[in-house]
Amino acid sequence: MLSGVLFAGTYLSVNLLCLFKLCLGEDPYVYIDWRVSYSTVSPLGVQQQVIAINGHFPGPILNVTTNWNVVINVKNDLDEPLLLTWSGIQQRKNSWQDGVSGTNCPIPADWNWTYQFQVKDQIGSFFYFPSLNFHRASGGYGGITINNREVIPLPFDIPDGDITLLISDWYTKSHKGLRKDLEDGNDLGVPDGVLFNGLGPYRYNEAMVPENIAYLIVDVEPGKTYRLRVSNVGISTSLNFRIQNHNLVLIETEGSYTNQQNYTDMDIHVGQSYSFLVTMDQNASSDYYIVASPRFVNSSAWARSIGVAILHYSSSQGPPTGPLPDPPDEFDTSYSMNQARSIRWNVSASAARPNPQGSFRYGQITVTDVYVILNTPPVLIDGKWHTTLNGISYFEPLTPLKLAQQFNVPGVYKIDFPNRPMNRPSKLDTSLINGTYKGFIEIIFQNGDTTVQSYHLDGYAFFVVGMDFGVWTENSRGTYNKWDGVARCTTQVFPGAWTAILVSLDNPGIWNLRADNLNSWYLGQETYLSVVNPEINNSEVPLPMNTIYCGVLSPLQKDQSRRVKFSGSNRVFDGSRRALFALIITLVRFLIGLQC
Ligand SMILES: *[C@@H]1O[C@H](CO)[C@@H](O)[C@H](O)[C@H]1NC(C)=O
Ligand SMILES: *[C@@H]1O[C@H](CO)[C@@H](O)[C@H](O)[C@H]1NC(C)=O
Ligand SMILES: *[C@@H]1O[C@H](CO)[C@@H](O)[C@H](O)[C@H]1NC(C)=O
Ligand SMILES: *[C@@H]1O[C@H](CO)[C@@H](O)[C@H](O)[C@H]1NC(C)=O
Ligand SMILES: *[C@@H]1O[C@H](CO)[C@@H](O)[C@H](O)[C@H]1NC(C)=O
Ligand SMILES: *[C@@H]1O[C@H](CO)[C@@H](O)[C@H](O)[C@H]1NC(C)=O
Ligand SMILES: *[C@@H]1O[C@H](CO)[C@@H](O)[C@H](O)[C@H]1NC(C)=O
Ligand SMILES: *[C@@H]1O[C@H](CO)[C@@H](O)[C@H](O)[C@H]1NC(C)=O
Repeated sequence: MLSGVLFAGTYLSVNLLCLFKLCLGEDPYVYIDWRVSYSTVSPLGVQQQVIAINGHFPGPILNVTTNWNVVINVKNDLDEPLLLTWSGIQQRKNSWQDGVSGTNCPIPADWNWTYQFQVKDQIGSFFYFPSLNFHRASGGYGGITINNREVIPLPFDIPDGDITLLISDWYTKSHKGLRKDLEDGNDLGVPDGVLFNGLGPYRYNEAMVPENIAYLIVDVEPGKTYRLRVSNVGISTSLNFRIQNHNLVLIETEGSYTNQQNYTDMDIHVGQSYSFLVTMDQNASSDYYIVASPRFVNSSAWARSIGVAILHYSSSQGPPTGPLPDPPDEFDTSYSMNQARSIRWNVSASAARPNPQGSFRYGQITVTDVYVILNTPPVLIDGKWHTTLNGISYFEPLTPLKLAQQFNVPGVYKIDFPNRPMNRPSKLDTSLINGTYKGFIEIIFQNGDTTVQSYHLDGYAFFVVGMDFGVWTENSRGTYNKWDGVARCTTQVFPGAWTAILVSLDNPGIWNLRADNLNSWYLGQETYLSVVNPEINNSEVPLPMNTIYCGVLSPLQKDQSRRVKFSGSNRVFDGSRRALFALIITLVRFLIGLQC
């Protein structure tokens, strides 16, 4: 009887949806096949293995329009389990497609898995990347562009071209070597270079850059205006982006149109994305440097780690002249913080935007919960190096949180993440934040480390309302921007400083909150935010038919099981858990045997 009622309810809402759309049909679908494999390239003149998609490094741009449905069949041809995550795609009511360890079992080597999601009510510039095993240090990333629907005007003239630039610090050491270094308590050290779209630097200086390095050339026409979408997809280095002699007009960041302002350079922290309009208004008889250089580091020790690409005018007679454009003062974090504070949301631009829909009055909404989240440099816990948030280093359970919730598996996680830093020894735990559905949560990130950290929340855009040096206190709220703080999904927190965000918890699911700096993340700096709608059953998208099962749910896995092939070194299936896993595999094989 009950299921009959629920069914009728679903049926009705589908029909209403259809009426609402005047039965013009569903939003478009795009079908994509991606093969993720290793490929050998030499971006810095040294041969190395990178992660490619369909043979390309970086991977293809996922170019879609608001509300499109995306179906991507991912084949894992690596030697390690894989997940791709779609940074900034909100996956409304659908954490099943988020592609992080707490929501999905990894796609084992040799398997394929099909992601299906909708880019609901979103526009803007984002990127995807492999989320497990430190893979992003070997590539596997690519840009995501979500275009406005044609009926929605852009808050600027349609640009003459659209160019994606993925910038990243880069090491010639593999992701396996780098993660081993971290586990051993070593620093990543100075990067071997900074890449533009997977390519090394132009040889602007013969002493700094070896011969025969392939570099990026961006072809432009004099007088035209281009939209440049720039994302820092790197491991841990904040980068300053600038173009010799050219003005950057900031127009968008991570899905929000900003007040259009001129900048000569922009600090882009790990995981962040920006769009700029750049007009080709300089002397068109030469080329110009495009530069991405590390911030807040000793520039002589890091001199080799500068990314340089070429802006090539079609009428150019030759290479750029003069030195690289000057970076801002190398240790001036105030400059960088003031720049960040100057980025404002254009509250009058019409665009698909995340919730609260149509409301710009976020400053007047009552805050329901406050979390002050402190990060610290790595600490030793039981003899191993870990990073923590409020003294807790995330312990990754064998069974993903979302599946444990779905199947009522007890003991996988607790919803008891402390809302203040705790005066107790650091520990490993699987402790989630209790997000009250429809609540309005204030999170203050307090950076106790010596380097800039970026924090990213899946499932949401949040309002960045304040940042300052020192320790956050209740009085700090007096400095909040309550009107036009930008809504985005990744914010920087300067060392010895705090950043405050506000989030409207309208998206049920289990959502990853993490440091985007891979080194901090890998050693445990993440948690999840659990948001449950207590009123409506089935308020989330149902469990996908093709769900991969692992952990204690492995016996449910039917397809592809005979092809299970896990390699030795990875975080998900390591140590003592491997024995348990072997046991489960035996059980699965036994069950399959019974079926045959
Ligand atoms: C992306 O898609 C839009 C709209 O479909 C199209 O106009 C544009 O040329 C595409 N861009 C790229 C880089 O493929
Ligand atoms: C794997 O790929 C095949 C062929 O494209 C497809 O039929 C199947 O559904 C995919 N498996 C999963 C789990 O998505
Ligand atoms: C904000 O968007 C509006 C509407 O599209 C546009 O006309 C205006 O120039 C934008 N304002 C700023 C400061 O960028
Ligand atoms: C940005 O600079 C251009 C000249 O390059 C100028 O015309 C424009 O008014 C400036 N815009 C703002 C918002 O300052
Ligand atoms: C552009 O640069 C070329 C070469 O330096 C120079 O000869 C020419 O006069 C310049 N043109 C303008 C309009 O400044
Ligand atoms: C920067 O690095 C250089 C070369 O490694 C070193 O000589 C210098 O002392 C460093 N400067 C600072 C301020 O740390
Ligand atoms: C989470 O918060 C809600 C509302 O504040 C409360 O009813 C619920 O018991 C909490 N859940 C846990 C596991 O603490
Ligand atoms: C939700 O489902 C549970 C068990 O299936 C049932 O007890 C409860 O009454 C349902 N709640 C609503 C609001 O339908």
